[in-house]
Order: sequence, then structure tokens, then C-alpha cells
Amino acid sequence: MHHNPALYLLHRRLLEQVDFQKRILCIGAGYVGGPTMAVIADKCPQYRIELVDVNPERIRQWNSDNLPIYEPGLDEIVFRNRGRNLFFSTEVARGIEESDIIFVSVNTPTKTFGQGSGQAANLEYVEAVARLILKHAKTDKIIVEKSTVPVRTAQALQRILASGASPLHFEVLSNPEFLAEGTAIPDLLAPDRILVGCMETESGHKACDQLSAIYENWVPKDRILRTNVWSSELSKLTANAFLAQRVSSINSISALCEKTGANVHEVARAIGKDSRIGSKFLQAGAGFGGSCFRKDILNLVYICRSQGLTEAADYWEQVVRINEWQQDRFVLNMVAEMFNTVANKTLTVFGFAFKADTGDTRDSPAIRICQALLEERAQLRIVDPKALPYVESDLGTLKGVTLCQDPYEAVAGSHAIALLTGWKQFAELDYRRIYNAMEKPAFLFDGRNLLDHGALFEMGFNVYPIGEKPLRHF
Ligand code: UDX
Ligand code: ADP
Repeated sequence: MHHNPALYLLHRRLLEQVDFQKRILCIGAGYVGGPTMAVIADKCPQYRIELVDVNPERIRQWNSDNLPIYEPGLDEIVFRNRGRNLFFSTEVARGIEESDIIFVSVNTPTKTFGQGSGQAANLEYVEAVARLILKHAKTDKIIVEKSTVPVRTAQALQRILASGASPLHFEVLSNPEFLAEGTAIPDLLAPDRILVGCMETESGHKACDQLSAIYENWVPKDRILRTNVWSSELSKLTANAFLAQRVSSINSISALCEKTGANVHEVARAIGKDSRIGSKFLQAGAGFGGSCFRKDILNLVYICRSQGLTEAADYWEQVVRINEWQQDRFVLNMVAEMFNTVANKTLTVFGFAFKADTGDTRDSPAIRICQALLEERAQLRIVDPKALPYVESDLGTLKGVTLCQDPYEAVAGSHAIALLTGWKQFAELDYRRIYNAMEKPAFLFDGRNLLDHGALFEMGFNVYPIGEKPLRHF
């Protein structure tokens, strides 16, 4: 749409005349900002929503037929609202000037330099946004922290915003996002809870009312929780730490299952039936990935350590260590089972994204696992429906790597398959045909416990699930 720039401008000016009830800006049009704002626009036609980003390519994609992120259900919502009350642009300054409420959803990656390198969050993008707001605002604003940030960042923002001579009032709220990738749209449409944290002042509570009012357009009121701003910030880190801890806990048990003949599915089912434990997030696998878990736990670890809470820091750090160990264990097992060498063997990797239904590869276990296999001098053929464009930059090389669209082509002459992402497509393949095309003995390492292991064994594969006895023909 809007192929004609003159028409686009005219259309925009006309829309400017429309009396929108609120003008909402979101700075940072990424995985969090994009879907969140699209859903708000869809549910609240009475508000004008604009997403701005410093990355012009990203904005161009948001304005095209090919959105920059893949998320089931997102296209439809964006196409339906774009140009009506949902806009994407690079004009950050104008966006700030024209809005009443500003969501900040810029990236907060782990610091790669200086103090806290490898653990602390890099807040330079968040701080830069605060300074931009201070520079361009001409009216009072409510600033909503959407990005995951260390506890007490809201205060830092508040201080920067209060530092100028400006008589304007800026109220900072914390409103962390709990959506998971791949299910972002259903998560946003029916959230377990919305968390709104505010300063415990009159203006803080008033701003909180305003932000809640946005969500009340579609979220039942009893799901909107109000807390103080620090609790809200800390709850986000804690939720991710607890979720990741469950995965590391079951993964640690999967190792013991493989040694003892216990079966991790049976154990997970047995403990999950305990209503105090619950059944979700007990799926053993090749490890957790994604942009949040590792980053947020290390952030928590850093904060604990800097408060002198060494034991608490060590406790949470172990969740990350177990995750790395689980990935390393996967590789060691492959090498050991394939007669202690994979050098010059062709190995097919099914899946590179950190989980199914996303093209996102941030912190994907496939990265560490593929790098280790390349170190062992294996030849890799990588298959993934969405993530192939990122393999080269993630691995730092394509030496020894072939990217494949077609899984049947990839497996021809392969010694083994390592399944690392639970894409449904991989479960629907013709494994008899695959077996016939492979070198023998054919090995299959199912890092997501996705496939029917008994059937594969019957076909002739040697099958290695996670947390269960391997099924070997020798
Ligand atoms: C997560 C949180 O779920 C979300 O609330 C938060 O806002 C951001 O971080 P996301 O990173 O999109 O979301 O993915 P999630 O579905 O939580 O999965 C994370 C990783 O854990 C994936 O690599 C997944 O494969 C792995 N996982 C998850 C398991 O290995 N076993 C499980 O039982 C569940
Ligand atoms: P997340 O997963 O947290 O949404 P992303 O990296 O997908 O993170 O998105 C963050 C976005 O924020 C990126 O597109 C980046 O270009 C953008 N961004 C970073 N700093 C600024 C800034 N000062 N102004 C506008 N956009 C910014």
C-alpha cells in the first residue's frame, strides 16, 4: 500500500484531522513493540498508534507486504489496521511531539564491554530514548517502559527526564510484556495478566489509570495488576527466571533418566499432576533459547551480585550453566554414539530457530551445538523453514555448512539427523524415504522429543531421544 508517496502524505494529513481519543507512540518497532502495538490498534480504533524506529529498513518492511518478523496472525492484524490508526515511520522526533503516551520498547541486550560485561543489561538505547523525549517533548507525557530492564531503571529514566529546565511533567510507568514468540498474538489478545507498575504518587496513580484504560478495551479488569514500579520491573525478570528454571530442572533430570532407564516424560507427567507444580514448561530438550531467558537471568544474577547477595546470584546462575551443559551433553553424546568421530561426516540439522513458529535465532541452542559440531569437523546441512537467513551471522561462518530448503535433499548421504527445533513440519516428513537416502547406520538425535521414536527404530534408525533410553540396533 501507499506506493505513491504524495498520496500517502495526503492520506496521512487527512487522518491527522480525525479526532483520535489518544495518541500513542511506540519507540522501537521490534519483536515486542510491533505485535503489541498492532493488537492495541486493532482493539482500540479510537486511538492513533504510531511505531517509530531508527532502523529505516525495518520501517520499510513494516510498511510493505513482507513484515520484518514472522508471527502467526500478525500479518492479518497489521494489514487490517495499517494506514487507518496504525502507522510506522522513522520520524522519532515528530512522533514524540505528537503523542501523549510513549511506549519504550528498544533493545536492552547484555553488555559486551566494561563493567558487568556478559551479564548486565546495556541500557544505552533506553537512556538515549529518554534524552530524545526530553529534547523533543512540548507537552506532558506518560512514558511506559515495555523493554525488559533491570529493577530501578524507571527511576533512572525519571531522573534523566527531570534533569532539564523543562517545566513539563513526565510520568514513568513499568508495563512489562509477557508474550512468547510464536504465540505473541494469542498472548496479547488473552493475557494471563497485565502488569502496571507506577510511582506511589498521585500523578503515578493517575497515569496508571490511563494506561489501564487502554488494556480495559479488551482485557478483563481483574487481570490488570497494579504494583509499585520496582515490583513490576522485578516481576518480569523473576517470571522469566522461574520459567527457565523449570526447563533447566527437567533437563537436569533428563540426564539422569538417560543413565538409569527412567523416562523423563513419565517423570514430567507424574510431577506435573501435582497442582502445586503444574504441567507446563516441563518439556526436556536440547536447552532453552530465545532473546529473554539467558539475558534476564544474567541480569538478575548481576543485580544480586552487585547487592552483595552472592548465594542468590550463584543460585540463579546455575540455571544458565545447566542450559549450556545440556547443549554440550547433546554434542558429546552424538560424537560418542557415532563411533567417537564426526569428522568429515555429513550431519543434517533439522531446525535452527530457538523454537518452532519463529524465525528468531537469538540464543538458539542450535548455535552452540552447530559450532561444537563444526569444531569436530563435521559437514553440516541445516534445514529451517524461517531461520536460514541468520545462520551465517550466528555461526560467524558458512565454512562446512550448507543451507537447505528441502529436507529430503539435505539428508541424502547424511550420517545423522539432529533435530533441534520442534517445527511441526519435521514431524510430518516421510522418514522411510529419509532413511533410505541416508548413510548406514543412520542416526537420529531428537533434541525436542518430537518424533515417534518406536516407529523410527522399526524403520532402521538408531534413535536418541532426550531423557529416555536410546533405541540402538547394535
Ligand atoms: C519467553 C517467556 O515465555 C515470555 O513470557 C517472555 O516474555 C519472553 O521469554 P520466548 O522466549 O518467546 O518467551 O519463548 P518460550 O516459549 O518461553 O521458550 C523459551 C525456550 O525454552 C525455547 O527455546 C523453548 O524451546 C524452551 N522450552 C520451553 C523447553 O525447552 N521446554 C519447555 O518445556 C518449554
Ligand atoms: P525486542 O525483542 O525487545 O522487541 P528488537 O531488537 O526486536 O527487541 O527491537 C528493538 C528495536 O528498537 C530495534 O528495531 C531498534 O532499531 C530500535 N531502537 C533502538 N534504539 C532506538 C532509538 N533510540 N529510537 C528508535 N528506535 C530504536
